[in-house]
Amino acid sequence: MTDRKRILTGIRPTGALHLGHYAGALENWVRLQHDYECYFLIADYQVSDYADDIPRVREAVWEVALDWLAVGLDPEGSAFVIESLVPEHAELATLLGWFLPVSMLERNPTLKAEMAAMENPEDGSTERKSVPVAFYTYPVMQVANILMPRAHLVPVGEDQLPHIELTRETARRFNRRFKEVFPEPEALVGRVPRLVGIDGNAKMSKSRGNTIDLKDDAETVARKVRAMYGGPPRAANEPGRCDENPIFLYLRAFDPDTGGLAELEREYETRGVPNKVLKDRLTKVLNDLLDPFRERRAYYQAHMRLVRDALASGSERMRRIARETMDMVHDALDLNYLEKY
Ligand code: TRP
Repeated sequence: MTDRKRILTGIRPTGALHLGHYAGALENWVRLQHDYECYFLIADYQVSDYADDIPRVREAVWEVALDWLAVGLDPEGSAFVIESLVPEHAELATLLGWFLPVSMLERNPTLKAEMAAMENPEDGSTERKSVPVAFYTYPVMQVANILMPRAHLVPVGEDQLPHIELTRETARRFNRRFKEVFPEPEALVGRVPRLVGIDGNAKMSKSRGNTIDLKDDAETVARKVRAMYGGPPRAANEPGRCDENPIFLYLRAFDPDTGGLAELEREYETRGVPNKVLKDRLTKVLNDLLDPFRERRAYYQAHMRLVRDALASGSERMRRIARETMDMVHDALDLNYLEKY
């Protein structure tokens, strides 16, 4: 039991989770949850870009927890953690910040892209947001998240890789300079690192409004799939290229009948297949995937007290390991001032 390696991973509470989260990360969490000692974090310290919309954050804490339960994460085996209920994260981030050069943040491609998007919103709004200090330093908080339970593995979406690299670098520096405290954690990216949006855009993302959410009902999924971008215009029976049609990217990601799909792809490229046929197939595939999620979600939604207890006990479990780690850190840095006399 105690010799299992540890996973820490997390999500910011900013809204409901979608298929991109599932294929990019969550699926791995579910698959690995019994082989590792897992800490799943709701990163509510890292919502500085939503600081003027706390009602949304409060709501999303529950949405995220429900989505986790819906996809089959087991809160008995794994700890569901609310970051701010373990304030040691803030302390560790402060201490680690002593040793991280600003240049490492300046070079972080994910952070750079996010800050650029904040200052130049592409959603048509003319409002330029200035970047909060806490946004600039959130990767350090994320490093603290991962190092707190001394995690070995971090299953995440592709965009998080620079932060994991920063974590490895931080662990190496700390261990070399002070004491061997932190394992150097590995990243693990999901089967589908980047799922296109239903509009054919490069990435499924809430701010682009091109998601299929894990909590969407069957009707909503059918409607979204009907409206999906189906590649360059083409007569119904004109052959097309599968790679140019996002419907195929989705089928490749989620259709369990790979043999049938391969045949369909051949047919599409030789004789042509109407998008309607592809969309009907995709709707069924997605609803088959989501049905068990919906069932579990409905159960927990009717028993929110269980969700609450999962968050409370998971956060408490994290708190215990956090105190252990902070003792090791204080000791390594020789910060136990009061022990002198
Ligand atoms: N930054 C991650 C995201 O935006 C969320 C996150 C916070 C995280 N802390 C983490 C992911 C620690 C992995 C490990 O999705």
